[in-house]
Amino acid sequence: MSEQAAVKTVTVKELTKKILNHEEVFILDARNTDDFDDWKIEGKNVHIINAPYFDLLEGVDSIVDKLHKNTAIYVVCAKGGSSEFVAEQIAEAGFTNVYSVEGGMKAYSEHLEPIKIGDLKNGGAIYQFVRIGKGCLSYLVESQGTGAMIDTNRMLEPYEEHINEHNIKLTHVLDTHLHADHISGGRRLAENHGATYFLPPKDAEEVIFDFTPINDGDEYNVGETTIKAIYSPGHTIGSTSFLVDDQYLLTGDILFIDSIGRPDLAGKAEDWVGDLRKTLYHRYKDLPDEQLVLPAHYMGINEMNDDGSISEKLGTLYKENHGLNIGDEADFRKTVTENLPPQPNSYQEIRETNMGKIAPDEEKQREMEIGPNRCAVR
Ligand SMILES: [Fe+2]
Repeated sequence: MSEQAAVKTVTVKELTKKILNHEEVFILDARNTDDFDDWKIEGKNVHIINAPYFDLLEGVDSIVDKLHKNTAIYVVCAKGGSSEFVAEQIAEAGFTNVYSVEGGMKAYSEHLEPIKIGDLKNGGAIYQFVRIGKGCLSYLVESQGTGAMIDTNRMLEPYEEHINEHNIKLTHVLDTHLHADHISGGRRLAENHGATYFLPPKDAEEVIFDFTPINDGDEYNVGETTIKAIYSPGHTIGSTSFLVDDQYLLTGDILFIDSIGRPDLAGKAEDWVGDLRKTLYHRYKDLPDEQLVLPAHYMGINEMNDDGSISEKLGTLYKENHGLNIGDEADFRKTVTENLPPQPNSYQEIRETNMGKIAPDEEKQREMEIGPNRCAVR
C-alpha cells in the first residue's frame, strides 16, 4: 500500500489575505452542487471549480485535466473533512502543491478581517470588519482610547483581539436594526466590556432583554468623536443610520454600494416600501455628497475597493446606484416589491435569536448563519 501523500493545510485567515491581495487563487470546492450554487468563495482573481466529494470517492481521474501542476490547489468542503480526503487523492495523482482549507466553508463563513477605513478629524480612526464569507460588515470607531462598535457579528474574538491590541475602552455598542441574516454579538460584547448596548426601539417591540433605545438625533460622544443617529426606516421600521463626525455615514441595510435594502424581512414589504423611498430619496438626499457610505453588507466582489474594504461617497451613489435613480414612485414600489431575492436562510430564527426569544447553542447558531446574506434588492 502506498503511503498517504502529504497534504498541506491553509487557514481561512491565510486564504482571505490572498483573496484580498488579489492573488491568483485556484479553489476546488468539494461540496455538493446545490450548496456550491447557493454560496461559494469569490474574489477578483479567484478561479473556482465544483467537484462534489461523492464523485471523487474512486479517484480524481475525472478532474485532473482541470488542474495545473504548477498552481496551488486549495480544496474546500463544508467543514474541512472531505476536503482533506480529496486533497490527498489529488496529491496521490502527482500534484505537489495541494492544500485543504481548515474548517471549510463553516470557518470561512465566520472569519472577520479588520481593514482601516480612515482617520477621524479629531484623531482616532474607523475600522471595517469584513466578513468575507458572508458579506457582513461591522465597524469600530475609536477616538482617544475610547471605542464604539456598530453592527457586531456573532464571533467576538476578532473584535476582542483588536480592542486589546489597541487598548480601547469600549463604551457604546450599537445595532442599526434588528438583523435577520446574522446573529448580533452586540449584547454579549457590551456585557464583556461594561459598555451600553443600544437598539432602535421600533425594531425591539418583541425584544425581551434590556437595551438603551436609539432615538432620531441622539448623539454619542466617543472620545473626541460624535456619532449621530439618523432615523432611516425602510429595511426595518426601526432602521437607524449613524453619522460619524459628518465624515462617515453608516447606512446599515438601507443603502448598499450597488443595491438598496429590501423591506420584506418582517413580512411588511408593502408597508415599509414607502419609508424606504422617503429615507433614500429625501432624508439621505439632504446629507452632503462627501459622506463616505459604509453599509452593513455587501453582495458581490464588484463592490470591493482595491484594499478589500467596501465604501463609496454618497454623491457617487446618487449618480451610479440604480436604486437611487428610479424617478417614478410607482416604478420604485414595483422594483422593490417584485424583485425580491430568496429570503436569507433561517431568517425567522435569526430574528428571534436577536430578540432574545430563543437561545440556540453555538453549533446551531453557526448552521443558521451558513449561506450568503440576502438583505438587498437590486
Ligand atoms: Fe438586515
